[in-house]
Amino acid sequence: MDRAQESGGGEERSHIPVMLNEVIEHLKPAPGNIFVDGTLGLGGHAKAVLGLIGEKGRLVGIDRDARALAVAKMNLAAYVTRCDFVYDNYCHIDEILARHGIRAADRILLDLGLSSFQLNDPSRGFSFRAEGPLDMRMDQESYISAFDLVNSLSQEEISLILKDFGEERWHRRIARSIVERRSHKPIETTKELSDIVLRAMPHHAGREKIHPATRTFQALRIAVNRELEALEEALGKCGAVLAAGGRIGVISFHSLEDRIVKQKFRDWARAGKFRLITKKPLRPSECEAKSNPRARSARLRIAERI
Ligand SMILES: C[S@@+](CC[C@H](N)C(=O)[O-])C[C@H]1O[C@@H](n2cnc3c(N)ncnc32)[C@H](O)[C@@H]1O
Repeated sequence: MDRAQESGGGEERSHIPVMLNEVIEHLKPAPGNIFVDGTLGLGGHAKAVLGLIGEKGRLVGIDRDARALAVAKMNLAAYVTRCDFVYDNYCHIDEILARHGIRAADRILLDLGLSSFQLNDPSRGFSFRAEGPLDMRMDQESYISAFDLVNSLSQEEISLILKDFGEERWHRRIARSIVERRSHKPIETTKELSDIVLRAMPHHAGREKIHPATRTFQALRIAVNRELEALEEALGKCGAVLAAGGRIGVISFHSLEDRIVKQKFRDWARAGKFRLITKKPLRPSECEAKSNPRARSARLRIAERI
C-alpha cells in the first residue's frame, strides 16, 4: 500500500529523495559511470549521483512528466553539460540509450511512483485530499485519464482495477456506487470520487488507519499510467542494457511493484546472469521514516550484472 505517498509532505517544486544514502551506498555510482535515472523526478537522487560520477560521467535522466523534467533541468543546471534530459517512458530504455549513442549503462535507478511535486498539485488530480479534476496522468500528453476510466469502464472492469491494483476489499461495493452515481452525471473531481468511496464503505471500514479512498486512488493511478506494465517491460530490457559489473536499483512503494522486482531479480540470479546485492529489500531508517512520511513504505532492491 503506498499510503505514505498520500501523507507525504513537501511544498510545490520540492521532493525529498527517498533512501538516498542507501542508494549511494549500494548502487555505488563511480567516476566516469553512465548512470540512467529512469525516474528523474525533480533530480534529487540525480544531483547526489552527479557529484560522484564526476566530470567524465554522464547522466541520462528520463521522466514521462514534462513539468517534472523542466524543474529537474533547473535543479541540475550546474551539471547540464553532463546530463541528457529525456521526456519519455522508462520502458523505452533500450531505444533511449540507442538514440543517445550509448551501448551499455553502468548504473540504473528506478524510484517508482509519484513525487510530492505531482501529488501536492491539486490540478493533477492525484490526491483525494484536495479538490481537483480526475486526471492522474503522469504524462500530460497521454490520452486516458482517471475521468475516462471512472466514467466509461463497466462496473466489472472498475471492480477488477480496484481489486488488482488497490487490493481493495470493498471493490464491488465501490464499483457499484461509481456506476450508480455516474448514471446521473459524470464524476468529474477527486472530491466527488472520494465522497462516493466513503459512502460506499461499510461503517466499520472507516476505522482503518489510512483514508478509505487511498486504495481506490492508488488503483486508478496505476491503471491510468499502466505502471506495472511499464515496470515489467523496463526490467525485461534493463537486463540487456546493463554493462557487466553494472548495478540496478529499484525503489518500490507497494507490494505489487515489489513483487515484480523481486521475481525478476530472482529469475536473473537463477539464470546466473545477476548477483543479488540485497537478498531482502532494504527499508528506510527509522529516522528517515519519521522525517519523511513518504519514505515509510519504501523498499529498495539492488542487483549486479555478472
Ligand atoms: C518518486 S518520483 C522520482 C523522484 C526522484 N528520484 C527525485 O529524487 O527527485 C518518480 C518520478 O518518476 C516518473 N515516472 C513514473 N513512471 C515513469 C515511467 N514509466 N517512465 C518515466 N518516468 C516515470 C514520475 O513522473 C515521477 O516524476
